[in-house]
Amino acid sequence: MDVVRQWIREARSIAVLTGAGVSAESGVPTFRDALTGLWARFDPRELATEDAFRAHPQRVWDWYAERRQALAGVEPNAGHRALAAFQARHPGRMTLITQNVDGLHQRAGSTVLALHGDLCTDRWLDDPKPCCNRRPPQPGRPPRCATCGNWCRPAVVWFGEALPETELMAAEAAAESCDLMLVVGTSGEVYPAAGLVHQAHLAGSRVVIVNPEPSALDGLADAQVRERAAQCLPLLLED
Ligand code: OAD
Repeated sequence: MDVVRQWIREARSIAVLTGAGVSAESGVPTFRDALTGLWARFDPRELATEDAFRAHPQRVWDWYAERRQALAGVEPNAGHRALAAFQARHPGRMTLITQNVDGLHQRAGSTVLALHGDLCTDRWLDDPKPCCNRRPPQPGRPPRCATCGNWCRPAVVWFGEALPETELMAAEAAAESCDLMLVVGTSGEVYPAAGLVHQAHLAGSRVVIVNPEPSALDGLADAQVRERAAQCLPLLLED
């Protein structure tokens, strides 16, 4: 822990990659933990894809609706706040890259590169025609255009979809040029996000992993902090 604090103090440029674990202590189930109860029999790859949505629009919509509802009562935790406070104290020194779609980093006041979109926004499934935006969508599960039937879908990145280009390019530039990469609360199994850690490591950056459990990226770590994000980030990031 002390050596990591020292590295953070020394680093000129820090890239942080966060995953669902950073929001766990806010009470947001991690991506895989969200597949409990009714959803336990599904694999995320069977719900979070365009094919799944087209085949079972109501099922996939309901899964996201439940996650949206769960977000309504939660707040950023001490980990989100510590990252936001560091960014505020050290403008331009930390690039925060997140795979999370819960908006909690943003609510804590951080500037983020959101690689996987935003859970609480909708967009059209197919390219909208003029009719789609003429009137509000017809309510339903999912809502749809009353004229052409185009579905609304959550504005998240599904498996098999491209990441937003501007965010990904900025994240790659940060991974390439940082001297410290902090990887917080991610299984490290989903690419291209996890590839940013390989990129930073290959470019000579130190890699620190914060996760109470083993992750797929542990082999790249110069140090591991086996603690929960909301507990250890405030200590790691204080000046
Ligand atoms: P996962 O749910 O796969 O993994 C959550 C990680 O957080 C695990 O490694 C846990 O050990 C760790 N964790 C749990 N509690 C923690 C805590 N309090 N502090 C720190 N770490 C903790 O979520 P992600 O790896 O973020 O993609 O998932 C990555 C992507 O896979 C998601 O963005 C989503 C998913 O499929 C898309 O939707 C495209």
